[in-house]
Amino acid sequence: MSKMIGILTSGGDSPGLNAAIRGVGKALLGRYGMKVIGFRDGFRGMMENRTQLLDSAALSGILTLGGTILGTSRDKPYAMPVAGKLRDMTDVIVENYRRHHLDALVCLGGGGTQKNAYHLMKQGLNVITLPKTIDNDVVMTDVSFGYDTALGIATEAVDRLHSTAHSHHRILVLELMGNKAGWLALGAGIAGGADVILIPEIPYDVKQVAAAIMRRSHSGQGFSIVAMAEGAISREDAVKLAEGGKDKGSKSGAGKKKEQKQQAQERVAGRKPGNSQHLAQQLEELTGLESRLTILGYLQRGGTPSAGDRLLATRLGTACAELVNKGEFGVMVAARGDSFKPVSLKDVVGKRKTVPLDHDWIKSARSVHTCFGD
Ligand code: F6P
Repeated sequence: MSKMIGILTSGGDSPGLNAAIRGVGKALLGRYGMKVIGFRDGFRGMMENRTQLLDSAALSGILTLGGTILGTSRDKPYAMPVAGKLRDMTDVIVENYRRHHLDALVCLGGGGTQKNAYHLMKQGLNVITLPKTIDNDVVMTDVSFGYDTALGIATEAVDRLHSTAHSHHRILVLELMGNKAGWLALGAGIAGGADVILIPEIPYDVKQVAAAIMRRSHSGQGFSIVAMAEGAISREDAVKLAEGGKDKGSKSGAGKKKEQKQQAQERVAGRKPGNSQHLAQQLEELTGLESRLTILGYLQRGGTPSAGDRLLATRLGTACAELVNKGEFGVMVAARGDSFKPVSLKDVVGKRKTVPLDHDWIKSARSVHTCFGD
């Protein structure tokens, strides 16, 4: 009897997911004679037993498609919103794995997905994962698919902002994705020649940023481009974050000051939607130059994957099928140079690949006089 393999995609979507589904699926079907079903919308669809047969017709023509044909969600098996409450639905998921007589489950996703997959592995399921995220923050892999496409889109945005910034002698702040890791802003900032790059790993001093912009202005460059990760924070906010967001100064009683502190705390907590707007205003005040904000948002995740992501996703997908055939489970298929390496899920979960402060990309950017606000 043919072996039966399940596939799901989970977490935020990324260009290259369909290329990976195709790579895994085609190799499992054609090379190893297995059957493949997809679960819709990540772990939620697996819990609700919503499936889709992935035969060769379903896998055909999807290589260049953005998003995921399976749909995705951020639901976790052990804390899933059901009837208005967070419930542990692990048993139902395990039951559905057995119901379909699965021999393995392939999970495509970022850090959260690796954690969820590891949880299911501990319940006795044969689990194998692939690293996907535009943030490029999954550990133990050189790179994750989705990053290259997002990098291209973000770089094009920096390029395009140059001409309008130059024409109007403005400061243009570009907010890019990357809540906890700055790979995207760093890569696009270097590739696009941003004058300032702000990333979560290096809390910035707004006065240093303003000084760098003024130096440019005095040397005849009346415009500046600031590439900022959505999770980049000021030094003051970083201190508040370290203190757990305590409002130490509320004793002052000064209403306005309190309100400002409150706003700063809100920017520290969660995804900080106001940070880039706040920075653009501060820079305008400190430099006297007009400033504008652009938030690139979901454009970075949408649309057709780059050639690099299609290649990576296909390589990792087919390698995954090879490992499934060998019966090697409890691993993530990591990219290593031109090849791949199965790495233990245990070593991947609960970690994040942030930008090391002594990373070559940072050294390189500093060498071409990019300011990091430190
Ligand atoms: O995890 C990738 C990512 O694109 C982050 O860069 C961003 O912070 C987040 O997803 C946005 O997620 P959502 O789709 O839930 O808004």
